[in-house]
Amino acid sequence: MIATADLRAHQIARDFPLLRQPTSRGKRLAYLDSAATSQKPQAVIDALVHYYTHDNANIHRGVYELAERATDAFEEARAKVASFINAAEPAEIVWTRNTTEAINLVSFTWGLANLGRGDAIVCSQLEHHSNLVPWQLLAAKTGAELRFIGVDGDGLHMLDDLDAKLRNVKLVALSHVSNTLGTIAPLDSIVPRAHAAGALVLVDGAQSVPHFPVDVRALDVDFFAASGHKMCGPTGIGFLYAKRRLLETMPPFLTGGDMIREVGYETSSFNEIPWKFEAGTSNVAAAIALGAAVDYLASVGMDWVADHERRLTAYALRRLAAFEPRGLVIYGPPRTVDRSGVISFNFADIHAHDLASILDTEGVCVRAGHHCTMPLMEKMGWPATARASFYLYNTEEDVDQLAFALEKAATIFRL
Ligand code: ALA
Repeated sequence: MIATADLRAHQIARDFPLLRQPTSRGKRLAYLDSAATSQKPQAVIDALVHYYTHDNANIHRGVYELAERATDAFEEARAKVASFINAAEPAEIVWTRNTTEAINLVSFTWGLANLGRGDAIVCSQLEHHSNLVPWQLLAAKTGAELRFIGVDGDGLHMLDDLDAKLRNVKLVALSHVSNTLGTIAPLDSIVPRAHAAGALVLVDGAQSVPHFPVDVRALDVDFFAASGHKMCGPTGIGFLYAKRRLLETMPPFLTGGDMIREVGYETSSFNEIPWKFEAGTSNVAAAIALGAAVDYLASVGMDWVADHERRLTAYALRRLAAFEPRGLVIYGPPRTVDRSGVISFNFADIHAHDLASILDTEGVCVRAGHHCTMPLMEKMGWPATARASFYLYNTEEDVDQLAFALEKAATIFRL
């Protein structure tokens, strides 16, 4: 019998046309790779098609009705994102291509303007490359020092020496949720201590805002970056949230059309926030469709999404644990309260890529490899892991299909 929560996920899955598509081997698709990218509900696909069919014009330029309609829809989508994360105002949302670009924006603007020798940036040891490489380059350019909050063997942040780490720190940049281990960063403990030490806090929210309610004002973070494609929206659109006073003082990032106020042959002045950071024609259609994605998630309810994923993760951890006697190893925090719907694992000595290929023959999509966290993998001594990640449309049936496919792998490898 299907439990009520799972029944709702089955109903939700029907909103996602791709999930109805069998694989080329005729298998039911069990899409367990939403940490890489989420599938899109029909409402988001419709928003894209509607925009190009009815509303397409350049924004902030034309005075004709069509252009005004495009501009209004674009700015309305910004307001939807602002309200989804409880920003104080839409002007605190800057459209970017994705989380990576949002973090680079902060690094190239606020970072270059504010960091120098003697300053420090603090990350954690489980950062995705996109919340690490920009700070490595910024440190190299400015002479600032890069420090790391350690994580233990379960991928939990070790905060004992945090106050020492925070000496002379200007920025603490952390993943809200680890894309590899699912660890939820203890922001409640870290943010006040970072602020007390005089640092700003940037949060990479790529793996959090799609999965549980995020309130940037309650978290009191200074910068928050996320990607549309991981939260039911299209690729090519993401956003940076930053507090108004920061955006106002930060220099522009990319320069050109739309981000200017006045341009002369020799000098220019710049637009108000957020447009000061949006040079060139934005991905208007994708921004509007991300607005539709936010409407969709809000209509389901982010509390429900979080509860559902917690339940499903607990179920998956139980199903995977049954393989432990045959050599399956689950990584990440042992308590579900410390982790989101991401489970990294290895199965005996099967290489993660081989395992993922076998799972694929049974219609199960998981990511395998280093998950763009090479330093973490090296620290843990894992050449690669397989990773199953869940979203609102996943059901116990998907997890059962994963378990069935793992049995197949066990048979092939005689485990
Ligand atoms: N950052 C994405 C992932 O973890 C691509 O899979």
